[in-house]
Amino acid sequence: MTDLSASTELMEKFILNENLRKHCYAVAAVMKSYALKLNEDSERWAVTGILHDLDWEKFPDTHPNTAVPILKEAGYDDEIIEAILGHAYPERTDVPRTSNLSKYLFACDEITGFVTAYSYMKPGGLDDVEVKSIKKKMKDKAFARNVNREDILKGAEEIGIVFEDHLENVIGAMKNDPKVNSK
Ligand SMILES: [Fe+2]
Ligand SMILES: [Fe+2]
Repeated sequence: MTDLSASTELMEKFILNENLRKHCYAVAAVMKSYALKLNEDSERWAVTGILHDLDWEKFPDTHPNTAVPILKEAGYDDEIIEAILGHAYPERTDVPRTSNLSKYLFACDEITGFVTAYSYMKPGGLDDVEVKSIKKKMKDKAFARNVNREDILKGAEEIGIVFEDHLENVIGAMKNDPKVNSK
């Protein structure tokens, strides 16, 4: 099962919070753009992004483990489920990131949250976001405190992309996605 519209529907059934939905669209957009760059299955990568926080709103204490039976029932395969478990390794699961799908999911998660938080402060939203300004803002510890800076850097390291380049890719993919960059 890798159908994007059915996956989006499933996500929207579980996640009602608009900001969290937007986070899922953002991760999906970046995953899709990386899949296209890497010649991977872009729908499959977008689906993994859309679903990665499926149980976060309803079951924050057991996320993402609570999502497993739901995803199995809906027909998602092991690679997708392992990637979703992997994004919370080792804090919440015992499934290390081994696949590209898993490593990229982890690398696209926290950073999109940070970019979104920053874009809210800008009059032009995402269109006003630049690599330089994000790098600078990351040093401001009081800003978007819940976004883990170490995980952001670790993510880029795991996919073997220089952090600035990763940031540029992430910002570009978010800007180019109409669902993510909507005013
Ligand atoms: Fe998560
Ligand atoms: Fe997330």
